[in-house]
Amino acid sequence: MRYYLGAMIDLPSQGSAIQFRVIKDERLYPGFVIRVEEQAKGYLNVCPHMGLRLNGSSGNLLSREGTYIYCYSHGATFEPDSGLCVRGPCEGLSLIPIAIEQDNEKIFLVDEIYTFYD
Ligand code: FES
Repeated sequence: MRYYLGAMIDLPSQGSAIQFRVIKDERLYPGFVIRVEEQAKGYLNVCPHMGLRLNGSSGNLLSREGTYIYCYSHGATFEPDSGLCVRGPCEGLSLIPIAIEQDNEKIFLVDEIYTFYD
C-alpha cells in the first residue's frame, strides 16, 4: 500500500522535512521525510539514545549549520543520507529508516512494517 506524503516541491531545500505519524502494533510513532540533495529519505523521529523525538518542541530536525539531523535532547548528530549517528551518546547507532518511494516528484510511504496514520 502506498500513502502519499507530499511532493519534492514541499521539500524546497536541503534538510527540509515533512513530518507525519505511522503506526505499528497499535503504537504511534512520529516519522519524517527529509531532502538529501535530490532524494527524499524517511526515518522514524525517534532518537536511538533514549527514544525521544529528535526535535522535541523546537520543530527543527537539523543541526545549526543544517548539514546533519540533530537530536536536541543530548546532541546526537546523524548523517542525513544514512541515519548513522556520528557524534553524541548513541554514536554508531542509526535512526530507523522508513521505506519511501519517489514517483514523478511525489513521495509515498511504502513501508511494510510502519503504516501511515492519519
Ligand atoms: S535522546 Fe537523543 S541524544 Fe539523547
